[in-house]
Amino acid sequence: MPGKFKVTVVGAGNIGGTVALHLAMRNLADVVLVDIVEGLPQGKALDILESGPIIRFDSNVVGTNDYEDTAGSDLAIITSGKPRQPGMSRDDLLNDNQEIVSSVTEQLVQHSPDCTIIVVANPLDAMCHVAFETSGFPRERVVGMAGILDTARYRTFIAQELRVSVREVFALVLGGHGDNMVPLPSMATVSGRSITDLLPQDRVDAIVQRTRQGGGEIVELLGSGSAFYAPAAAIVEMADTILLDQKRILPCATYLQGEYGINDLFVGVPVKLGAGGVEEVIELDLTNDELADLENSANDVRNMVEVLHS
Ligand code: NAI
Ligand code: 2OP
Repeated sequence: MPGKFKVTVVGAGNIGGTVALHLAMRNLADVVLVDIVEGLPQGKALDILESGPIIRFDSNVVGTNDYEDTAGSDLAIITSGKPRQPGMSRDDLLNDNQEIVSSVTEQLVQHSPDCTIIVVANPLDAMCHVAFETSGFPRERVVGMAGILDTARYRTFIAQELRVSVREVFALVLGGHGDNMVPLPSMATVSGRSITDLLPQDRVDAIVQRTRQGGGEIVELLGSGSAFYAPAAAIVEMADTILLDQKRILPCATYLQGEYGINDLFVGVPVKLGAGGVEEVIELDLTNDELADLENSANDVRNMVEVLHS
C-alpha cells in the first residue's frame, strides 16, 4: 500500500535519518524529512530513495526545509533537538530544545491539524509538554517515545545475563525518561518466570541500574551524540502501531489525568496505541514501593515542567 499514509519526520539527524529509512523500507507510508539545515534532509531523503530499487520499496521520500511539503501528514515525529554529549544530562537540553520543539510543533500543526505527534527530543517528558501545550491537541494525539527504548535495554541486559533469546524476555520500564525511571523487576519474566526467582538480588539490582543509565552508557561510548539505532526502532514500532491501528499495549509517555495518582503530567506508562493515538491508559496493579518509585520519577518530570513554565 505505498502512499497510503504520509509521515513527517522533523530532524534529519541520526535518529530522523534512521527512522526515515526504516519507514520507507516498510512500504507503508510516504515520508517527508524536514530539517533547518539546507541540503541535509534533501541529501538523506535522496540517498534513502535510491536504496528503494535494491531493497524493493517504492515509498516516496522527500527532504525539505519547507513545512508546505508536510501538509496533510497522518503522523509527525519530532526528533529535532540537540542530543546529549558526554557529561551532559538529558535535562541540560531543556531550554534549547524547548525553543526548537515549540517552533516545530507550531509549523506542523498549521499544515497537518489532524496528525498524531510522536515526540522524541529530550528531555523527553518535558518536550511532550511543550508539544502538547503548543499544539492544543487532545492528549490522545501527543505521545512520547522512551519506554519502549528503555524496556528494550532492560530486556537486552536480562537476556544477556540469563543467556536466552531477547524474544523470551518480557519486561516493562515505567516513569520519566531519566535516571529515576522505574524498571519493574516484578514484571520482568522469562517464559513466565520472574527474574527475581531466576537471579540473585544483586544481579537484578545491577541490571536495573544499568537500564537506568542505558542512554548515558551509549553517550560515553560514542564520545559525541547519543543512541539512535534502538531509539529509531522504538519510534518505528510506535508508528506501525498507530498507522496500522494495531492497538498494541506499549510503554509510552502520555499525559496522565489521575491515572496512577498522577495529574497533568507526561509520564511513561503502558498505553493502547491505535489509529486514535493513545486510545487507553492501562493501569497496572503496582505495589506500594513501585508506586512510590513512579511518583519519585514523576516528580523529576514535574520539576522540569516547572522550569519550562517559569
Ligand atoms: P542529531 O543532532 O543527530 O539530529 C538532530 C537534528 O535536528 C539535526 O539535524 C538538526 O539540524 C535538527 N534541528 C535542530 N533544530 C531544528 C529545527 N528547529 N527544525 C528542524 N530541525 C532542527 O540528534 P539525534 O541523535 O537525532 O537526536 C535527536 C533528539 O532525540 C535529541 O534531543 C536526543 O537527545 C533525543 N533522543 C531521545 C531519545 C528518547 O528516548 N526519547 C533517545 C535518543 C535521543
Ligand atoms: C537515550 O536514552 C540519550 O535519551 C537518550 O539514549
